[in-house]
Amino acid sequence: MAGDKPDAEEIFKEFKEQSITQFFRKNSQMLGYSGKVRSLTTIVHEYVTNSLDGCEEAGIFPEITVEVKELSENKHHVKVTDNGPGIPQKLVGKALASILSGTKFHRYVQQRGQQGIGAGGCTLFSAITTGKPIAVKSGTGKSAFECNVAVDIKTNKPLITEMKDLPADFKGLSVQGEFGDTKYERSDHGVQEYIKRTALSNPHITIKLTEPDGKENIFLKSVNEMPKRPKQTKPHPLGISTRDLLDFAHTTDKNKISSFLSESFSRVSPSKVAELKEIAKEVDFDKSPKSLLWPEAEKIVEGFRGMKWMAPETDSLSTIGAQQMESAMLNIINPQFISVTERKPKIFKGGIPFAVEIGIAYGGDAGKVTEEGTKGNIMRSANKVPLLFDGSVCAITEAVNQIQWKRYGIKNFDEEPISVFVNISSVYIPYNGIGKQAVSQEPEIIEELKLGLMESARKMQIHINKQRSMHTMESRYRTIIRYVSQLATNLSEITGEDKSAIEKRLREIVESKYDISDAKETSEEKEEFETDEEE
Ligand SMILES: Nc1ncnc2c1ncn2[C@@H]1O[C@H](COP(=O)(O)OP(=O)(O)OP(=O)(O)O)[C@@H](O)[C@H]1O
Ligand SMILES: [Mg+2]
Repeated sequence: MAGDKPDAEEIFKEFKEQSITQFFRKNSQMLGYSGKVRSLTTIVHEYVTNSLDGCEEAGIFPEITVEVKELSENKHHVKVTDNGPGIPQKLVGKALASILSGTKFHRYVQQRGQQGIGAGGCTLFSAITTGKPIAVKSGTGKSAFECNVAVDIKTNKPLITEMKDLPADFKGLSVQGEFGDTKYERSDHGVQEYIKRTALSNPHITIKLTEPDGKENIFLKSVNEMPKRPKQTKPHPLGISTRDLLDFAHTTDKNKISSFLSESFSRVSPSKVAELKEIAKEVDFDKSPKSLLWPEAEKIVEGFRGMKWMAPETDSLSTIGAQQMESAMLNIINPQFISVTERKPKIFKGGIPFAVEIGIAYGGDAGKVTEEGTKGNIMRSANKVPLLFDGSVCAITEAVNQIQWKRYGIKNFDEEPISVFVNISSVYIPYNGIGKQAVSQEPEIIEELKLGLMESARKMQIHINKQRSMHTMESRYRTIIRYVSQLATNLSEITGEDKSAIEKRLREIVESKYDISDAKETSEEKEEFETDEEE
């Protein structure tokens, strides 16, 4: 030590490493645990998305029950049960307690979960706020068991206790735990809204929520079809960064960079690799990908960007589907009118496919009911997962705000009974942050959202205009028809002709002028729901 100032040796006596679990223990807000209402919604979100992914991967129509009970102020018991494939006994600890482990993060396939953090995050949050483990019941169809799982914060290793075999008739997964620093609230950010929106984005599921006051919310499935299974694909060369390339290269089992490139990426044939060799001359394509360095990876990515490519495959996308979306909106929002638009897949950042679906609901129970009346609302969703937070920075909100709603007959979006429901699908949704609640404002995504919104809004406008003109016609008809009887009496007195014959003729004249057969139909239509296909 020089004087009283510590030198490097002194300072670095304190040098330590921390596990990923220790990191998230201090930074749980990064996982969505910030604010009591949001924390509770995050827990339900993590378990429900896992249940949906698990069921869909096993080809099972998801049936999920969620129960939230209040244990004391700011402390809740949450239980989520599904009818999915369950988790094998030997992996249950790693799957539900360790962070950064799972069956999804290493595959390039569109699923809700991506990182292997969600379930472990819940286990950690329970430990931090109550010191309790998570109780698990799992059945794979062949065997079943129950146990408690927790995590060793220093090592990120699972701690399993109370392991017991169960009769094999339980199939699926049930997780339950106690969570402090939580609050149940029936608001736009609460669990009930989250479950309702989950049902909206996933018409093929049945989901039941029991709220702390015992109120049951049941959303039955709106369609009898499972969504198309997303295909596992390889990334397109135009959609990867230098960092991605290095990560892929360092974990591949291929021996040479050339074979690694043609095996790992879509559209990269051996002849394309030969073309790349001419551009990235300084890279040794025969060496092991494990020894690939940053400057070399940079050259390869630059080379890729300068070459001509076939567009990426789009069958990796699993959308909700226009008809399914309409059924769900009809069932859950119950509006007067629905207009749905499913756009063809497009590309962002040069090589990442995505697709947008837009549903506009108008009238009836559409919009958000507030004390000041019904207001327009935006329901955002990405890969069929509702996004309830950080709306102000999301590409979807931005696109909706950029639409000139007046042009489509909506005088003030904030004051009309309108709900705009948007889902974006992609293997790689560009979220703004680790909390995955807002889609970043990529220009291609905003543009595509706007086109979809305008298409849906146009269809809706035609319907509204038709209804308004019918309404005007109908009220004129009713005004005039009131005088027909009196006029017939007067004319009969003047001409001496039969009153009923005159009245009949007068009615025919009025009806032919104001063709109210349509008006009558329109008022009947109000009871039904329809999609106006006219452009
Ligand atoms: N209900 C379930 N049914 C079947 N498997 C499950 C279930 N819940 C979790 N798993 C398994 O546990 C793994 C870890 O789940 P976890 O939520 O931590 O990560 P993830 O879903 O892969 O990614 P993300 O962090 O984005 O949620 C999953 O990848 C899956 O293999
Ligand atoms: Mg998950």
